[in-house]
Amino acid sequence: MNLTVIGTGYVGLVSGTCFAEMGNTVTCIDVDAKKIENLTNGIIPIYEPGLEAMVNRNLNNKTIHFSTKLSDYLEKCDVAFIAVGTPMGDDGSADLKYVLQVAKEIGQHMTHSLVIVDKSTVPVGTADKVRDTIQNELKQRNLDIPFHVVSNPEFLKEGDAINDFMKPDRVVIGSDDEESTEQMRSLYAPFFRSSMDRLITMDVRSAEMTKYVANAMLATKISFMNEIANICELVGADVNKVRIGIGSDSRIGYSFIYPGSGYGGSCFPKDVKALKKTAEEHGYTASLITSVEDVNDRQKLVIAQKVVNRFGENLTGKTFAVWGLAFKPETDDMREAPSIYIIKELVKRGAKINAYDPKAMEEAAHFYLKDMKEVTYAKSKYETLQDADAMILLTEWKEFRSPDFEELKIQLKQPIIFDGRNQYNDTLMQKKGFEYYQIGKK
Ligand code: UDX
Repeated sequence: MNLTVIGTGYVGLVSGTCFAEMGNTVTCIDVDAKKIENLTNGIIPIYEPGLEAMVNRNLNNKTIHFSTKLSDYLEKCDVAFIAVGTPMGDDGSADLKYVLQVAKEIGQHMTHSLVIVDKSTVPVGTADKVRDTIQNELKQRNLDIPFHVVSNPEFLKEGDAINDFMKPDRVVIGSDDEESTEQMRSLYAPFFRSSMDRLITMDVRSAEMTKYVANAMLATKISFMNEIANICELVGADVNKVRIGIGSDSRIGYSFIYPGSGYGGSCFPKDVKALKKTAEEHGYTASLITSVEDVNDRQKLVIAQKVVNRFGENLTGKTFAVWGLAFKPETDDMREAPSIYIIKELVKRGAKINAYDPKAMEEAAHFYLKDMKEVTYAKSKYETLQDADAMILLTEWKEFRSPDFEELKIQLKQPIIFDGRNQYNDTLMQKKGFEYYQIGKK
C-alpha cells in the first residue's frame, strides 16, 4: 500500500519505518524542515534500538521517503496516518491543535477516497472532530469525496518499539465501517504470521478508550505496588519478596509490579491525566485514577527523602553520584523522568550532583536540568563517584546491574548506595560492607 504518516515523532517514525519494512511505500511528513533533511540523510532524532538501521535500509530500498509537503503525497496515498503530538494542555486534557491542523490540511488537499487513521493518543470523540474538520474543508472546496476516519492506537514501549511493532501483542482497529476495517486488516495481516486473533476490531470510541485504559491500568499497577512498598517499609516487610509472592498467582502475574521511583515517560503521566479529565468533562470524579497520579507524584521523591533522612535536611557540601537519568533504560527520553524531581530536590537542599547516563545526558543538560550549575556530567559511571558522599541509582540500565563494587568502595567517601530501582541484593550488599537503601524495605 501507499502510506503517508504525518508526524515524525516517536510514534510516527517507528510506525512509518516498520510499515516500509513490511513492503509498503511510505512517506513520512513533518513541518520541521531540519528534521526532514536529517532523516533523508539517515540521521535519526531519537535513540531507539534498531531504528537507525531500519530507516537506512528502507531509504536505500526507496521504500521510505521524508518530506515537509503533505499536499504532494496525498494524491498517491491509500491510507494517511495522523501521528502528531498531543501535548498536555494547561487543564490536563490532551491538546488537539496539531491533530486538527493536520485534518484541515488533509481536507484542503485530498483528491480521492482515503482512509485517515488517528494514530496519536487522542481522547474519545476525536475521530468525530477529525471527520468534521475534513468535511468542512471539502465543503468549502465544493467536493464530495468519501473518506473514513479510523482509530488505531499505538502500544509501543520505548526501547523495544521495533519489536512491539513488528511482533505486536495486539493491534486495535476502531472503525465504524466495513470497508476501512478490511483495508486496515490487510495492512496489518503480514504482522500476524499464525493467527489473526490478536487483530482486534471494534467501534471507534472503544478503540480510542482502549489506549487510555491500557496505560491507566499499567500505571495503576505501578502506583499500587509503590504504595505497598511504602507500607512494607513501615511494617518491616520486604516488597521484593511480596512481589514474588503475589506474582505467582496467575491472575496477578509478575509483570509491571516492580516498585521504584515512580513512572515517567511521555505516555503514562499524560494519559492518566487526560483520562481523569475526560471523566470530569462527563461529570464523573475518577477517584482511583486521581490516586494513581497522587501516589506517583509522591513516589518520585521517596529516594530524596531517604537521602535527607540519612544526611539531614541541609545538604550543603554534599555531593551525590547519580547513575541513570532517563525515565527508563534503553532510551534517551527524559520526559517526566523521576531523576528530574529527585535531582532538583537535592540541589534545592544545597547538594551537588555528578551524573552519568549512557544515553540521556545531552537531553538532560540541554532541556530538563538546563542551567543547573550544581549538576555536572561524567563520562562513565565510575567517574561520578570520586569524592561523592553516596551513589544514587535512578534508572536500571544493564550496565549498572553488576558494577565493580570494590571500585565503588574505593571511590565513594563512604560506601553508601540509594537504589531507586531495587537492583541489588541487600544481604549481599551488607556482606560487601555497603550501607544500602532501597524502595520498600527498611
Ligand atoms: C508505555 C506503555 O507500556 C506503552 O504500551 C504505551 O504505548 C506508551 O506508554 P513507555 O512509556 O515506553 O510505554 O514505558 P514503559 O516501559 O511502559 O514504562 C513506563 C514507566 O513505568 C517507566 O517509568 C518505568 O520505569 C515504570 N515501571 C514499569 C515501573 O516503575 N515498574 C514496573 O514494574 C514497570
